[in-house]
Amino acid sequence: MKSSCPHMLIAIDGPVSSGKTSLSSAIAKRLNILHIDTGAMYRAVGLAAIRLGISPDDEKQVSDICEKGLALVDVKFEDGMQVTLLNGEDVSEAIRAENIGLAASTVSMFPKVRKYLVERQRLIAQKQSVIMDGRDIGTVVLPNAPVKIFLTASAEVRAARRFEQLKNKGVEADYKTILEDLIKRDEQDTKREHDPLRQADDAFLLDTSDLNFESSLQAILDRVNTVYGK
Ligand code: DC
Repeated sequence: MKSSCPHMLIAIDGPVSSGKTSLSSAIAKRLNILHIDTGAMYRAVGLAAIRLGISPDDEKQVSDICEKGLALVDVKFEDGMQVTLLNGEDVSEAIRAENIGLAASTVSMFPKVRKYLVERQRLIAQKQSVIMDGRDIGTVVLPNAPVKIFLTASAEVRAARRFEQLKNKGVEADYKTILEDLIKRDEQDTKREHDPLRQADDAFLLDTSDLNFESSLQAILDRVNTVYGK
């Protein structure tokens, strides 16, 4: 891969547990660029709402905390890994709770929350080469990204992967509940009015239902090579 490439922009979108984050992170390491997990930023807003005793579906109050600086979301990098900050506190672990995922999906419906975070995401991508993953990266955040991938997999395969992940972390989990939550979040993310999850017209569709991690990684690297050259 050319290290002389001035500014790489790689957009990865896809539904819950489609492997966006782990694949993006592996690709960032290979290419020596930063990986920005934008879902973590929506999770931080969801966490802020819950900590302040605000219901995540209260649009006015959730929008207010973003506009009034009560939910300052930022990211920094330590050894190339993203650390997600909420009002200066490292919340990288706290945002991974299952209830925060659903809260993030709910607060992400609100245009003021999206505007706030999209601005921050664009600023990060202006400064350096990035692979950015989320739901609206190829369509809204970085519409001019030369590489766009839309990752998908069946709901059952995604729920099984999530179940395995949680089991490996020693977290008690129930497959049926995971599948139900995932379907609910898919529904919220694809049907919301503002910037719903959808494949950009110029994105490459990669269905990983029958692919292992290595094959998925290689398929994305092949696309990157096609655009940026080896
Ligand atoms: O990627 P994730 O599961 O951590 O994201 C949490 C929620 O945040 C997801 O359900 C929808 C929302 N989100 C979004 O609306 N736009 C993004 N670019 C990233 C995430």
